[in-house]
Amino acid sequence: MRRVVCPGSFDPVTNGHIDIISRAAQLYDEVVVAVAQNPSKTTLFTAAERVELIREATKRYDNVRVDRFEGLTVDFCRDNDISAIIKGLRAVSDFDYEMQMAQMNYNQAGVETLFMTTNPLYAFLSSSLVKDFAKFGGDVSGLVPANVLERLNSRLAES
Ligand code: PNS
Repeated sequence: MRRVVCPGSFDPVTNGHIDIISRAAQLYDEVVVAVAQNPSKTTLFTAAERVELIREATKRYDNVRVDRFEGLTVDFCRDNDISAIIKGLRAVSDFDYEMQMAQMNYNQAGVETLFMTTNPLYAFLSSSLVKDFAKFGGDVSGLVPANVLERLNSRLAES
């Protein structure tokens, strides 16, 4: 089975992420969306919540599975029999860091990284910007899945 992992923080998942995941699902037998759980990083949503939000937002794709991990992406790949990582590239500014990480992952574990160019509709989009705009009353509908919009607004209203 040809399997690829799409790793990230997804705090929260955006339409840009969903675009990459759905296009990867057309190329691979299975796409595993791996939510990074980093105890030293403060997030708006817990790892369990981020997983749940992505599951809801991707339920129409039969070959997309969502899981979470702690530690190295390449260890997750080894444990799940995955030989490639897929990443969306928004702009040249993403490239330096992503290339370095891709080369490190290949050097350390022989895991390949494939870069997919982001849909230009979402080239400016990031989870951080979505949170910042939503926090100050910006309208982020159209930038995140409907279930995320609802949870984002209610979470921000609590704080
Ligand atoms: O959505 P993000 O925050 O840009 O995702 C970054 C993520 C989680 C994909 C990246 O930080 C990652 O792969 N973390 C796991 C730790 C790891 O494997 N680091 C090795 C870098 S060479």
